[in-house]
Parts: sequence; structure tokens; C-alpha cells
Amino acid sequence: MKVPNHIAIILDGNGRWAKAKGMPRSYGHVKGCSNLETICDDMKEMGVKYLTVYAFSTENWKRSREEVEGLMKLFRNYLKKCIKIAERNKMRVKVIGDITAFDQDIQKKIAQLEEFSKDYDELHFQIALNYGSRDEIVRGVRRLAADVLEGKLEKEKITEAVVESYLDTAGIPDPDLMIRTSGELRLSNFLLWQLAYTEFYFTDVPWPDFNKKELIRAIEKYNERDRRYGGVKEE
Ligand code: IPE
Ligand code: IPE
Ligand code: MG
Repeated sequence: MKVPNHIAIILDGNGRWAKAKGMPRSYGHVKGCSNLETICDDMKEMGVKYLTVYAFSTENWKRSREEVEGLMKLFRNYLKKCIKIAERNKMRVKVIGDITAFDQDIQKKIAQLEEFSKDYDELHFQIALNYGSRDEIVRGVRRLAADVLEGKLEKEKITEAVVESYLDTAGIPDPDLMIRTSGELRLSNFLLWQLAYTEFYFTDVPWPDFNKKELIRAIEKYNERDRRYGGVKEE
């Protein structure tokens, strides 16, 4: 079985999972968060080199104040804990998204985690926080435009590779497989540029229940696909 180099996951369904158990949505987020730890270990064990997860979107601020506050508390704990996970898996952690919207202490924890793990390279783990693909493109275009105005970049020299270098994912290869849990069949503003030729896998399993067995199932399905990139597959 060929293991994808880069797997991206939309971690969805925490709230519904909890509701089905008669529990508050926050309980689903706690379980979802601990599942993220397990899945990082599984990815490392299976030899996946890049993992990118969508944990909080630019649209998720619209949730109730209670839910957003609960998530911030969870991020604080998780970012601290993630230092140990990074050490154990020799994993480099990067946060993608506009982190300036978070409280100072969260931004500091992100900086500490990124600095601590910067020399690890067995697994590259990207966490999308306050991430929206359109927002990422707008932020990138602003920086690109500023560089053109300052004479650092010529308009004619703008290529796909140059545009890519202004995205939050600069330097990270595009995902080979994108998984969305919990039944929704949409991207919800996740990696619109980067997923141009990615294989998609949707499952009804909610994120807190998505385990190694489900991961293997997704990778098996991926192996049945015939990846073409516009060309004709050579037999
Ligand atoms: C995903 O689960 C986690 C976040 C978006 C923070 P949801 O909270 O979206 O759970 P559902 O989709 O409402 O069940
Ligand atoms: C997408 O899930 C964002 C994350 C998983 C972080 P949502 O649950 O927020 O997306 P919609 O609202 O169903 O599109
Ligand atoms: Mg959801």
C-alpha cells in the first residue's frame, strides 16, 4: 500500500458526535482534540511525512461565545501539550492561518511550539487556526503587491511558484489526500489553491471516532485511484 506523502484533514463532527451522546458540544471538542494526538502518532508510525489539519476556520468565530471560549481554552492546553507530542514524534509543527486574531498568550504559545520543533523533520504537522483559504490568498496578495510596489518583485516574474511562496503553506508540498469526516461534502474554505489535484475522501464517521482503522481505509481507497494530473496514466 502506497502511503500518501501529505494528508490533509477537515476535522468535522465534534458537535454532532457529542449531541448524539446527550453531551454538550464542548465535550466533542475535548474528545476531538485528544483524537488529534492519537492520529499524529499513527501518521508518524505509518510514514506519512506531512499532515495538515483544519481545526478552526475564519468563519468559526460565528459560533456562540461559550463555544469559542471553550475552544480557546482547549487550544491553550493543546499547544502546551503539543511540545511533548512534537518531541515524541520528531515532528515539526507550524500553524497556518491569521494568528493575529488570537490573544497574545496563544500567539506566544504558537511561537514557542514552532521554535521548539523547528529542527524536527520526520513528520511535518500544520495546524490551521483562524484559517480560511480566501483570507490566506488575500493576505498573500497584499504582501505580493507590496513587494511589487517596493520594486522587490517584477510583475512579469509572477508565476504559480511565486504566488505559492506567498501562501501560508509556502514550502509545503500540496496534499495528496484530503479527508473530511462526518458526512459534509464541501471544502468550507480549506486550502482552495493547494487542493487543485488532491484526491478527496469523505466519510460519515465523526472526527472523535476516526481512528487508525478508518485512516487505513481512506489510504486503501486512495490507492485505488488513478491519479492523472491532466495527462494519461502510463500502465
Ligand atoms: C469540528 O467539529 C471542529 C470545529 C469546527 C472547531 P464541529 O464543531 O464543526 O462539529 P459539528 O460539525 O457541528 O458536528
Ligand atoms: C470546517 O468545519 C472548519 C473546521 C473543521 C475547522 P465547519 O463545521 O465549521 O464547516 P461548515 O460550517 O460545516 O461548512
Ligand atoms: Mg462542523
